[in-house]
Amino acid sequence: MTATRIGVFDSGHGGLTIVRALAARFPQQPFIYLGDHANAPYGERSHAEIVALTQAGCARLFALGCQLVLLGCNTATAVAGRTLQQTWVPTLGGRKILGIVAPTVEAATQTPWSQTVPTFPQAYNRDVIGLFATSATVESGVYAEEIAKRCPSVRMVAQGCPALVPLLERGASATELHVAVHGYVQQLLAKCAALEANLVPNLAILGCTHYPLIKPLFMQALPPSVRVFDQPQAVADALDDYLTRHPEFATPHQSGGPAGGGVRYYTTGEAAQVQRIASLLLKQAIEFYSLT
Ligand code: DGL
Repeated sequence: MTATRIGVFDSGHGGLTIVRALAARFPQQPFIYLGDHANAPYGERSHAEIVALTQAGCARLFALGCQLVLLGCNTATAVAGRTLQQTWVPTLGGRKILGIVAPTVEAATQTPWSQTVPTFPQAYNRDVIGLFATSATVESGVYAEEIAKRCPSVRMVAQGCPALVPLLERGASATELHVAVHGYVQQLLAKCAALEANLVPNLAILGCTHYPLIKPLFMQALPPSVRVFDQPQAVADALDDYLTRHPEFATPHQSGGPAGGGVRYYTTGEAAQVQRIASLLLKQAIEFYSLT
């Protein structure tokens, strides 16, 4: 039986939070991870650069034998996803690319992905959602659009956090990260208060896959009433649903057989440096291979 490898792409270390959840959910399924560390961060780059880099990263994963690539990056999904789906994917002979913004919004707003027509009122239709993301993701407006489609009464307050990905990519200290997260949380809370006195989000979406690496810092900085949404679990649920409908992209489950899954990690950067920081961030040894 041949293994059908699924690719996961990110600008750098962030997609590790996604592939970690996927490897735990699908122990029989082999994954290939590619971090474009040589070009990270994407969050302050132009639209054209993000589209070109995302396409190049997906092309490398297809060349490594993947038939399905999941963008483990909100910035790539929000900025490049639609363009690539419309202009490039139709030429790929059946290979597919999946994004992560729609499944995140669907899970966060409790609107199942099988439901295409919104029904109101949902449980969370009156929520205030705080979005923390890269500048490019916030400016794309994709989160606001996807939330409004499903829950028109939700108010979304977005905060770009341009310093966080560079800090995480270089393995910055907990103190530096704490100061930066605290600052962004205060800015978002000030925007809420400017909308309405004492307004506090019900839910915070960490809309950059790097941020779950520092979820405890967000939880410390936010008021205790704010629920912090777990994107990696939502993406694993969405992939589960997708593979049930498209079993041709998954490695068939061999009951009783040895687990054939696991992740092979590639980087466009320098492997030794990348694996040192990745192992620190994930608190487990991770071996990267350089793609030259
Ligand atoms: N992990 C990427 C995301 O989810 C970070 C983008 C960046 O490189 O700035 O948006």
